[in-house]
Amino acid sequence: MSVKVGIDQIGFYTPDQYLPLADLAVARGDDPNKYLIGIGQTKQAVIPPTQDVVTMAANAAEQILSDTTKSEIAMVLFGTESGVDNSKASAVYLAHLLGLPTNTRAIEVKQACYGATAGLQIAADFVRVHPAAKVLVIGADIARYGLHSAGEVTQGGGAIAMMVTANPRVLTLDAVSSYHTEDVMDFWRPVYRTEALVDGRYSTNVYLKFFETVWQDYQRQTGKTIADFTAFVFHLPFTKMGRKGLRQILPTASADQQASLTANFEASQEDNRNVGNLYTGSLYLSFLSLLRHGQLQGGETVGFFSYGSGAEGEFFSGTVEPTYRKGFAEAKIAAMLDQRTAVTVDEYEELFNEQLPNDAEDVRLPVGTEHARYYLAGRRGEQRLYRQQTTC
Ligand code: COA
Repeated sequence: MSVKVGIDQIGFYTPDQYLPLADLAVARGDDPNKYLIGIGQTKQAVIPPTQDVVTMAANAAEQILSDTTKSEIAMVLFGTESGVDNSKASAVYLAHLLGLPTNTRAIEVKQACYGATAGLQIAADFVRVHPAAKVLVIGADIARYGLHSAGEVTQGGGAIAMMVTANPRVLTLDAVSSYHTEDVMDFWRPVYRTEALVDGRYSTNVYLKFFETVWQDYQRQTGKTIADFTAFVFHLPFTKMGRKGLRQILPTASADQQASLTANFEASQEDNRNVGNLYTGSLYLSFLSLLRHGQLQGGETVGFFSYGSGAEGEFFSGTVEPTYRKGFAEAKIAAMLDQRTAVTVDEYEELFNEQLPNDAEDVRLPVGTEHARYYLAGRRGEQRLYRQQTTC
């Protein structure tokens, strides 16, 4: 019998400040219900200049690592589209910050919001061949569209860290999946830009078309139908997007199943609604949200739709393990989200503009209010200065 492989643990980090989106709506002259209902977002994580994808990934990974598991990590696959260097992988900085052994592979994976899924599938295939290995998969991003832009309400940021192993406690991944790639200009970020270029409505249509394509192909490959699934989780750039995806297939389910799939969707969107877009981590935050707020039973099947603009889509599935609640630190995650403080629109705009500038100047960042274990202290000699609190 082949070895069971999948997600053994999930960690999550987002910074300690957020912007209430009803306030942003008022400031931008929009009806708050457009943001809260039409887009489906309530709060947006505000990323201080002292956090980047490396430090956020380290803060998420620290939640699930022990000294023993650190020593067993064979590979780090870092999915991001907000990398801090065009050559050196964020995974190398991360491995050093976490004190991982040097006999580790550490690489960055990029394809818009799809990067972490590529990392997860590569990790699973690696563990199928090397069942004793553990692979750390990261999805970390800062979603920036720009002040006063149409995409502003769909910003956010944070990191997901997943440990992929044999005999996982959270989810066993099925080896079958369906994927689809086309060269599409719906969202892209040339190397000279800090904010993405996006055709939001076009992107929404491509997302839905790709979902239909991979869902049909998955059913053809496996013979499964919607009746085989307890829940579907979606890449959620904003929660309305996944709701549209679910509505596309819901009519093929029985009335009872439509109700239960909808209830599970509500559970799966709750944390994303209060954090915003994580780009490549969004699908996995949605999965974590389902684990936290849903009522899953061991043995149930969850379907995943991953989408990265540009564009690549994948549908895959997994079986929930009865031990899934042992795979994430519920109390820490709840406290991290509950203890965040709200910022005003003025404070948010100030923080937005304080991001480390894209030049070679030395910078010392205001680290006095930073409470996260890992943080960015500035830049000297064109090198980022990563630091670790001695006590947290
Ligand atoms: N109350 C309730 N709903 C309202 C409303 C109100 N007062 N005003 C508007 N809405 C609804 C609209 O009907 C629409 O719903 P629908 O999509 O179900 O039709 C929704 O709110 C958005 O309105 P829209 O006019 O389309 O908003 P917009 O032009 O500002 O753009 C996005 C919305 C999502 C396209 C834009 O925020 C964006 O480009 N975001 C980034 C895109 C992205 O994340 N792409 C990546 C995809 S993977």
